Amino acid sequence: MTQEELFKKLVAHCKEYGFIFPSSEIYDGLGAVYDYGQNGVELKNNIKSYWWDSMVKLHENIVGIDAAIFMHPRTWEASGHVGAFNDPLIDNKDSKKRYRADVLVEDWMAKQDEKIQKEVEKARKRFGEQFDEAQYLATSPRVADIVSKRDAVHKRFADALNDNNLDELKQIILDCEIVCPISGTRNWTDVRQFNLMFSTQMGSTADGASTIYLRPETAQGIFVNYLNVQKTGRMKLPFGIAQIGKAFRNEIVARQFIFRMREFEQMEMQFFVQPGEEMKWWNEWKNTRMAWHRALGFGDENYRFHDHDKLAHYANAATDVEYNFPFGFKEVEGIHSRTDFDLGRHQEFSGKKIQYFDPERGESYVPYVVETSIGVDRMFLQIMSAAYTEEKLENGEERVVLRIPAPLAPTKVAVMPLVKKDGLPEVAREIIDMLRFDFNVTYDEKDSIGKRYRRQDAVGTPFCVTVDHQTLEDRTVTVRHRDSMEQERVAIDELYRLVDSKVAMRHLLAKVKA
Ligand code: GAP
Repeated sequence: MTQEELFKKLVAHCKEYGFIFPSSEIYDGLGAVYDYGQNGVELKNNIKSYWWDSMVKLHENIVGIDAAIFMHPRTWEASGHVGAFNDPLIDNKDSKKRYRADVLVEDWMAKQDEKIQKEVEKARKRFGEQFDEAQYLATSPRVADIVSKRDAVHKRFADALNDNNLDELKQIILDCEIVCPISGTRNWTDVRQFNLMFSTQMGSTADGASTIYLRPETAQGIFVNYLNVQKTGRMKLPFGIAQIGKAFRNEIVARQFIFRMREFEQMEMQFFVQPGEEMKWWNEWKNTRMAWHRALGFGDENYRFHDHDKLAHYANAATDVEYNFPFGFKEVEGIHSRTDFDLGRHQEFSGKKIQYFDPERGESYVPYVVETSIGVDRMFLQIMSAAYTEEKLENGEERVVLRIPAPLAPTKVAVMPLVKKDGLPEVAREIIDMLRFDFNVTYDEKDSIGKRYRRQDAVGTPFCVTVDHQTLEDRTVTVRHRDSMEQERVAIDELYRLVDSKVAMRHLLAKVKA
């Protein structure tokens, strides 16, 4: 099965099992907008708890807020979003399809990397056991040719982005002979900038309605509250403010399911530091955030940092945490050193002094900021991509199992009476009543036990508990483990401890802290 086929199956699975539905589907959906179903919302809430607790509970100097989506319009002038929150777009004149010019070039560069990988695989087959990959990469003329072309384009691309040179961006597309995937032609328009912010009117026209924006990032809600939190919380530098909330971007090309959406959710933390200390903290947060990702156990080799070619208007250093999705390594999170740009600009535009009095230095200054910013939905897709597994069992049957880390699983325990009579459902309900205050549990009595196991595997439930006739005699149940499919006999009184030992969020948090 190709990675593309796997991804298609994952998307279908998300719908079939109540994780994600297209928005307003009965009207044929709305581009790049999605709804979370009964299982999706549980997983999403657990991702948010994992992030929130890792920020606010694990750090004495980080507090949370929940700012409004609507903000004073001047906010977005000060932040630079009105002037500079643009993507370069290009149209194919034959297919009339619109693309992001930068993404076309990035995809071309990723294809060069795939070509190199294919050369390596071919050579590995040719040379067998003696194959030395490093030596091959260093000496193969074919690889050297691809690398030099890719690097030359990379350099031109980075320069074009940094200089805002849209003509050069188009020239790169032409020189790389990039074709429209629909029409197959190179009949491109010029590249032009497109502002990604959605706007609407607040107040009635008679009152003199003003244009306001749907926030394209949650960060600004933190910056405009910096003084409020610092003063009321008597916070001392360095300290952080965390927030989870919706953000909106009128993305030119909505691709790859929930990877790029027009309405999405962000988990952002702005860490305020002394000027001059920002690079130290930027490195510190890179490590902390990577540990958070790796604690999920999806394999360290599937994560990497990718430094930005083009720094955003507010940043002096920026890197992405990328995950190896079925469609290649892609950004999940950004870690940015935002300097004093945002607070400085809000000070200038609002006319209010936004400064910190540093008792140790005996002076006031505008703090510098290191930001960690991750999309909830993208994290959701990352987890689903990593967790979705198709397995052939020893008895020849197949199963689809979601290997979601147990603390994030939508449902923790499914309790199943073997039959719907003889008092077994009553005991099952008793077990549910014992567990439901601390864990998300479900009751399932329909179909054979085998079918019920498959249903729970498909939504990632770590434990299935079966109540049978022996239970009535000795108060024990069969516990079946999702990943190993092993079964064990456990006393009902022991169930709470067993479940807690695997699904409590503190186990994940302890790994991040370690
Ligand atoms: N405050 C900084 C900021 O917003 P960003 O790199 O534009 O930085 C941060 O976005 C994260 O938000 C990304 O790493 C991604 O996880 C998520 N994100 C951004 N745009 C998104 C979109 N259109 N759909 C889903 N997630 C998105």
